[in-house]
Amino acid sequence: ERVLRVALLGCGVVGSEVARELLEQPDELAARCGARLELVGVAVRRPGRQRPPGLDPALLTTDAEGLVERADLVVEVIGGIEPARSLLLRAMAHGASVVTANKALLAEDGPRLYEAADAAGVDLYFEAAVAGAIPIVRPLRDSLVGDRVDRVLGVVNGTTNYVLDQMDTTGAGLDEAVQEAQALGYAEADPTADVEGFDAAAKAAIIASLAFHTRVSAADVHREGITGVTAGDVAAAREAGAVVKLLAICERTAGEDGDPEGPGAGVSVRVHPAMVPRTHPLAGVRGAFNAVFVEARGAGPLMFYGQGAGGAPTASAVLGDLVAVARHRVTGGRGSSESAHADLPVRPMGEA
Ligand code: HSE
Repeated sequence: ERVLRVALLGCGVVGSEVARELLEQPDELAARCGARLELVGVAVRRPGRQRPPGLDPALLTTDAEGLVERADLVVEVIGGIEPARSLLLRAMAHGASVVTANKALLAEDGPRLYEAADAAGVDLYFEAAVAGAIPIVRPLRDSLVGDRVDRVLGVVNGTTNYVLDQMDTTGAGLDEAVQEAQALGYAEADPTADVEGFDAAAKAAIIASLAFHTRVSAADVHREGITGVTAGDVAAAREAGAVVKLLAICERTAGEDGDPEGPGAGVSVRVHPAMVPRTHPLAGVRGAFNAVFVEARGAGPLMFYGQGAGGAPTASAVLGDLVAVARHRVTGGRGSSESAHADLPVRPMGEA
């Protein structure tokens, strides 16, 4: 039986769940992959911390660089730019396929990683980087690649959606709702990345790059968080038959003569609070859930809905990717490439 060596980088909330699944259902995964997935190491910063039961402590290592060189498949759930970027580049240069949940890295330096994957002829999969368990990366990259996506609207940050939902249903103010989100473990002690829209902007950049086959980085995304939203704004929206959502809005913008495909056409990618009519499917996204609404020319409207965060939901997306890249190893194939072929300028807000 074929064996594929799996290296896990990071063993936090998501990594622990991935390790647990690998250890608990090896036969099922082997049957689905056509190869046994052997966990050959788990790179951590501090080996002394509590780890999932059943994980052989001998697998823990602080030598992530050495680990990626002896793996066929590398799963990265460390997050942040470095050392994740160097480790993934090293892994691909050594011929490993890569699965990552790292939205910040993809939004900052995705093209460099895509090119490294192309150059090495390996897979780079990242379903877990956008909206956790919700399949949206592969639908945009694969299922809809023959269509033309004109617009994507997303509720892609569960923490802010919870906060705004609480304000809507209880009349609470922003600070009170953020504190509740913290108490429930949705918001971090420092909620900046969520409430200021950085997390949603990274996801918007990834979505727009995939939807429009172009390059959009987090720095291109106009970003406004929810810190300016008051209880009065939420009440006024309610009066108007709407609900306030933090939306990621990715859309094509027309060029000269209003032609969306003509010269001067571009894209607009932005994150800001928006009034969503209560009749729109996105208005029904409650609590910490996420949803992505896609408008494609042929397919029409599509809605993807589910849990955007958390250990098990995010690990579900990671494991799905892991099986996919493992299957490619077995068949000698490779998944789709992300190489951008369009060069669409990203328009600042307010510019047509
Ligand atoms: N803090 C994020 C959220 C988690 O609230 O959606 C996933 O990126």
